[in-house]
Amino acid sequence: MSLPAVEFRGVSKNYGQGYVLNRFDLVIPREKIVTIIGPSGCGKTTLLKMINRLIEPEAGTVLVNGQDVGRTDPVELRRSIGYVIQQIGLFPHMTVEQNISIVPRLKGERKQKLVERTTELLELIGLEPESYRKRYPHELSGGQQQRIGVARALAADPSIILMDEPFSALDPISRVQLQKELIKLNERVRKTIVFVTHDIDEALKIADVLVILKSGTVVQQGSPADILDSPADAFVREFLGNERFALSYTI
Ligand SMILES: Nc1ncnc2c1ncn2[C@@H]1O[C@H](COP(=O)(O)OP(=O)(O)OP(=O)(O)O)[C@@H](O)[C@H]1O
Ligand SMILES: [Mg+2]
Repeated sequence: MSLPAVEFRGVSKNYGQGYVLNRFDLVIPREKIVTIIGPSGCGKTTLLKMINRLIEPEAGTVLVNGQDVGRTDPVELRRSIGYVIQQIGLFPHMTVEQNISIVPRLKGERKQKLVERTTELLELIGLEPESYRKRYPHELSGGQQQRIGVARALAADPSIILMDEPFSALDPISRVQLQKELIKLNERVRKTIVFVTHDIDEALKIADVLVILKSGTVVQQGSPADILDSPADAFVREFLGNERFALSYTI
């Protein structure tokens, strides 16, 4: 088996009111869309932020491409991992091009290269480069802003992209469109995408691998089809929605 993209080994985190994660283990395979779902407060954002060291564990190890992140320079690490969040946080005073190319620019990439890379990424996310590159974020719709966020996360060509409810502020139509685009995008670029969502339909639709959490523990991990086929327990069944299993009741 190839080296996992990310691995949690015995990771514990306590913000002061009890353990959010207690000796947590998880293996995230490479080049898949891995969707993490679970009730509010179960530790999803905490997990994601441990991958790029925005949060440090009290105990245990987080490995990225086999390397202990605790021994990696946090700035380097963050530049090497894409990160997309709900309120995308584009820089309002920067153009689309400047927003997308910020990490390569910080890495000292040449101007011409930045322009080329922006063109490539705008094409990839389905926005016409010449009409969008000089716009400011307030001149874009919510869905377009999230697309720019995805392009920015891809700009430095990271092998891993973390997404924390990236589409949840969007209207249902844009949301479904972006879900489809993300699936298509990953067929082309082949990244490891760790995607946190509250929306079970979204998770089932986009995931190659689904990880279901409950109070900081993995209750089940597998493909959506396998999990729907044989849910581990009553919690999984109820969390995904009993109606999804209605068919199997009649067989
Ligand atoms: N900085 C913090 N200080 C104290 N407690 C925190 C902090 N950040 C998170 N927590 C607590 O840790 C638990 C896990 O939080 P986390 O944000 O990881 O949950 P989540 O699964 O992402 O939830 P949601 O689905 O609502 O986004 C929650 O009980 C939360 O209150
Ligand atoms: Mg969260």
